[in-house]
Order: sequence, then structure tokens, then C-alpha cells
Amino acid sequence: MPGDKSISHRALIFSLLAKGRCSVSRLSPAADCQSTIACLRNLGVTILQPSATSFVIDSPGLTELKAPASVLDAGNSGTTIRLLSGVLAGQPFSSTLDGDESLRKRPMSRVLTHLAKMGAQISYSEKENYPPFRIFGTKLQGQRFDLNVASAQVQTALVLAGLQADGETIIALPAIVRDHTERMLKHAGIPFRQNGLVISVSRLETPAEPFAINVAGDISSAAFFMVAAACLPGSILELLDVGMNPGRTLVLEALQQMGADVQVCGERNEGGEPIGTITVRGAERLKGITISGERIAAGIDEIPILALAGALCQGTFSVRDAQELRVKESDRLAAIANNLRAAGATVNEQADGFEIVGTDALPGGSDWKTHGDHRLAMMGLVANLLFEKPVQIDDVNCVAVSYPHFAVDLAKLLA
Ligand code: S3P
Repeated sequence: MPGDKSISHRALIFSLLAKGRCSVSRLSPAADCQSTIACLRNLGVTILQPSATSFVIDSPGLTELKAPASVLDAGNSGTTIRLLSGVLAGQPFSSTLDGDESLRKRPMSRVLTHLAKMGAQISYSEKENYPPFRIFGTKLQGQRFDLNVASAQVQTALVLAGLQADGETIIALPAIVRDHTERMLKHAGIPFRQNGLVISVSRLETPAEPFAINVAGDISSAAFFMVAAACLPGSILELLDVGMNPGRTLVLEALQQMGADVQVCGERNEGGEPIGTITVRGAERLKGITISGERIAAGIDEIPILALAGALCQGTFSVRDAQELRVKESDRLAAIANNLRAAGATVNEQADGFEIVGTDALPGGSDWKTHGDHRLAMMGLVANLLFEKPVQIDDVNCVAVSYPHFAVDLAKLLA
């Protein structure tokens, strides 16, 4: 699997907490991570790429960043724009952040109102809550934040601001999310306190020592192959060194609960993250399940591909409490329902989820609208292995946002 996108963003951005040369191997090839690299370069950070997936970051440290010469373009990447907002709120200069058409539709106040409470000044250039916006950085004041959204991006942005703030910054999450941030802080030797879902940080008085990290394989990318193998009888698939962060493993649990033969072995630690080998054997038809409640956050990016397995299951496959999917790279609840319905499935879309009545075969042959959303494009490519007739995917190239060579890797597995 390619390196994990979430961990890669953090490896790049957390290098700023150190001073000197950090190195990252197996960095994700995602276009999103290239957006982070471009933004960091615009802030005066030198980043070199000695080989395809190895990067070195010559970090000047948080206190020596340069005011960007131009707009910081986060492209399609919510993680880039939100995490960098946390960094920029504490800087003695102002910056404008923007993104592509999809990012311009994604809510930013979930991070920016908190940063404003810490002292940063925010002005939206066009529409309140959405990019582009300008952050006037300042000397920040720590606060307590009880988040009402289970978002690792929001939590991490506030951690990055808190490491530059006076006093203590306390962030309480409403549910377990991916804890890459905590693990990377530990890996880099940066002090923080944690009590269950509450994390607190204080100003980082001296930069951390430069660190090196080897990024775990991306379980969100692996999920597409896992579902393909689980739904194709006779398949045997082994995925090596996949990240097993407990805030990301819903896809494993859901497939197992649906009756798929999914096993994990050889678990060990890599860069502070649990990794392991996942083996999937395609056998019988999967069973319908309901996914809801606090565990949704642990599979927030995998619901689209799980829905495809759900469309071909025995019984009913339901997702509830997943309203966050409406504000991802596209409105994923609507897109899942519309694409599957067009392909012949019976889907009932709800405000916070959907219910699919499973069937043993789907005709396909329909239009598949990605809305430029990489995960919907990859879902369509996997659907083409499972439907009677292929769907016409309107934009296959957007897979590059997380996994540029997805179609090539998928084709190799079919050989
Ligand atoms: C991410 C967190 C999730 C996820 C996104 C990456 C991260 O978003 O959907 O793809 O790297 O922290 P939220 O934390 O906003 O749910």
C-alpha cells in the first residue's frame, strides 16, 4: 500500500515543530500531500525528494517561518488547509488560504472560530465559513475546547495552535478518532498530556530534535482492495504493512461482521503506529449490517466502499449518524445513494445515512458521478469488477488526490 495520507500530512507539518533535517520515508503519493509540500515551501521550508517516496524537510522551526509570497493553495485537501490554519494562527504575519472548487464548499468555521477565540483574526474573502480566507496570526492564548464534531483535523489544528499559545490549550473530543497526532507527538518527543478523549498542550518553548519516520501503509486505500476481494469469490489478497490505527479500523470490523474472511497477522509498530498484514479471502455472499454511533468516525473515509459491499449483501446494509459525510470532498451520502440507485440498487437516503436493500447482482451500465471525489472514483472502479455491466465514471483522474496509481495496482491484482 502507498504510505498513509493522514500520517504523511502530519509528518510534513510536524517537522515544523523541530529545527533541522527531518526525514520521511514512504510518504503518500497523494496529490493532497503535494499540496501540503507546496504550502510549506511557500512558507520558506526547504523540502527535497531524494527518491520517489523519501523526503527530507529542512525545518527552520516554528518561529522562523516566512510570510508566504502568494496564496497558500491547499488544492483538494481539507487536512492541509485545516492543519496549516492552526500553524498560521500563531505566526507574526498574515496568510491567505484557498483551495479547489470542492474545498471551497467545505466548512472551515469548525476550526477558525476556535482559532479566533485564541486571538487570531480571520476574514473570509467571499463567503463566511468557506475558503478563501485570511488568517492574521498573533500571540495566541490557550483555551479549553469541547468539540461537538468528532474530527481529528479540528483537534490537530488546535494542538498546532496550542503549541504556540500562552497557557494551556485543552481539546476534548466527543468520540475516538484517528490518534495519529498523539502518536506523532510522542514519536517526535513533544510533550502533551492526555486523559481519555482530552488532550492538552502548552507552548513548545524549544524546538523538538529532528526526527525520522517511516509512514505506515494507508488503510483507507487498502479498503478498496479489501472490499473487492471480499466480494469476489475465490480471491486471495494479502496487504502488507497496513496501518492499524484504532481510529481507522472500522473497515476491518465491518467486513468481518458482514461475514468476510479478513485476518490480520504480524502486528508490530512502525513510527509509533500499529501496522500489520491483512489477508482477505473472497467466499460467500456478505451479510447486511448496521453501522452507527461513535464508531462511524473510525471508518469515515471507508463508508463509500463499504456501501458497495452493502449493495451486494444478503439483507439490508445501513449507515446512520454519518452526517459528516455530507461535508467531505463531496456530499458522499447523496453521491453513494444516487450512483448505486442508477446502477440498479434500492437505496433509501436519510439525513445522516442510508439504507441499502442488498441483492445478488446489480446491472450497472449507468453513469457514475464522482463530483471530483477520489473515493467515489475508486468506488466506481471497484464497482466495475462487481456489476454486470461497467459504469461510466465521469472523472477517473481524481483518484490522484489520494492514490494516483490505483487503477494500475487494481489491474495488476486481476492478472
Ligand atoms: C483526517 C481526518 C478525517 C478524514 C480525512 C483525514 C485527518 O477528517 O476524513 O480524510 O488526517 O485528520 P475529520 O477529522 O474532519 O473527520
